[in-house]
Amino acid sequence: MSEVQSILSDASHVREQYRDSSKLDARVRIYDLYAQRPESFQTWVFDRMQLRSGDRVLDVGAGTANLWRENAARAAGLSLLLGDRSPGMLRTARDRLAGTGLACRRAQLDAQALPFADASFGIVVANHMLYHVPDRARALSEIRRVLVPGGRFYSTTNGWSHLLEMRELVRRFGLASAMRSAVSASGAWDLEEAAREFGARFEDVRLESCRDVLRVTDAGPLVDAIRSIGSTSGDAPPDERVLREIYDHVEWMIRLEGWFHVSTWAGLVSGRRP
Ligand SMILES: C[S@@+](CC[C@H](N)C(=O)[O-])C[C@H]1O[C@@H](n2cnc3c(N)ncnc32)[C@H](O)[C@@H]1O
Repeated sequence: MSEVQSILSDASHVREQYRDSSKLDARVRIYDLYAQRPESFQTWVFDRMQLRSGDRVLDVGAGTANLWRENAARAAGLSLLLGDRSPGMLRTARDRLAGTGLACRRAQLDAQALPFADASFGIVVANHMLYHVPDRARALSEIRRVLVPGGRFYSTTNGWSHLLEMRELVRRFGLASAMRSAVSASGAWDLEEAAREFGARFEDVRLESCRDVLRVTDAGPLVDAIRSIGSTSGDAPPDERVLREIYDHVEWMIRLEGWFHVSTWAGLVSGRRP
């Protein structure tokens, strides 16, 4: 396992990141504010999932249920179960789905030991979470086990150059050693690695990319997103003085050029259980 992967899947790092939704919210905010594509990433993902009314769907590591909140009307006929290891994230998912009219069940669970019988679901989703799982091979076997034969598995992750300019800021301003998981351009579990791993367990594996650019016009939310990545377990939190320097630099670039660009590259990998 690479250094970045072992940081991303470190139990105390994951617990600290997702105790509640505040850190994830700070990162999601920069897409809400500055993404250029007309549709959100969650809409882009939903458009590519072959879902039919009545499908039994398990979302593993569902977080704050952004996928389902943003597509609530289209998801109405599904039998949906949201699973997450963090009770705090599940509470926020419940609160944010209230009022959408979308019914779902929730379960605290670990992707490495899914508490369901074989062939329980027609669809399993695991978005932007498998890089947090220490034993990913086991999680993938579990996902395959709970799918019906012919059932489909969907998983999003990032391409290798995702947030390149933001990671470059962290590195150039000297925060790299405190924020190792945020800096590396390689070593994190990316789209191509996902497609390779899925190919060993699933049929008809497909990879679709969604590239965009964030046109940042206020340094504040960008610095909040950097701060949210925080330190790796055991390290000191990122130095506020350095974050202030990053803020000033980005504000200066915005004043000169009108915006600060951050490229994004995420995507969807899917496969079918044989
Ligand atoms: C980056 S968030 C992604 C949330 C959501 N899927 C999305 O795409 O917006 C990762 C989520 O995975 C959860 N998680 C991490 N490790 C897990 C595990 N072993 N089993 C289940 N959930 C896990 C975290 O608690 C967090 O809610």
